[in-house]
Amino acid sequence: MTKRIVVVVSGRGSNFQAIIGALQRGAIPADCVALVTDNPKAYAIERANAAKIPVVIVDYGAYATRELYEQALLAALKEQNPDLVVLAGYMRILGSAIVREYAGKMINIHPALLPSFTGLHAQRQALEHGVKLAGCTVHFVDESLDGGPIILQRCVRVLDDDDEDTLANRILIQEHIALPEAVRLFCEDRLTIEGRSVKVRM
Ligand code: GAR
Repeated sequence: MTKRIVVVVSGRGSNFQAIIGALQRGAIPADCVALVTDNPKAYAIERANAAKIPVVIVDYGAYATRELYEQALLAALKEQNPDLVVLAGYMRILGSAIVREYAGKMINIHPALLPSFTGLHAQRQALEHGVKLAGCTVHFVDESLDGGPIILQRCVRVLDDDDEDTLANRILIQEHIALPEAVRLFCEDRLTIEGRSVKVRM
């Protein structure tokens, strides 16, 4: 059956665009039923409008407390009745009520080869550490910071003359392959979580 996916972003939305492209090519058996964002100025909103995907704005700045914001976000997600929630550049830490509600049904893309370099500025952390390989990870979301079971990873070489932007751009190209692929695998029911591992049925 066609899955209902909701994509959650905070900004530019190039990973969201990669998902839209894959949906439009028929590469993923799903409908994107909404884009949800915490940022009314997110460029991703224009991408959703162009693709005729409904937009739900849960403006972080409009809530008096983080708890109230989280309640509103959870309500907005529930209203969409999603089979899968995709965090595609969502730049806040999710509260445990949302994570628990969507256990096994929520995935995130992170611009590092986890478990290295969690949190913000992952590409800068990789450069500062002097690693020779960097990359991206798509993982299920649990209550740890970027620590849930890994679905897939793609890597790039770190070049001697890389700066944060050049490395981030090279990783982003791989993100745009990895995230739609992970969404497809989920929507085709090919993923099984076994402890810390995700088995992928071919
Ligand atoms: C991407 O590089 C994504 O991996 C990263 O934010 C960027 C969003 O770009 N996410 C995180 O750092 C989450 N911790 P996009 O809006 O163009 O897809």
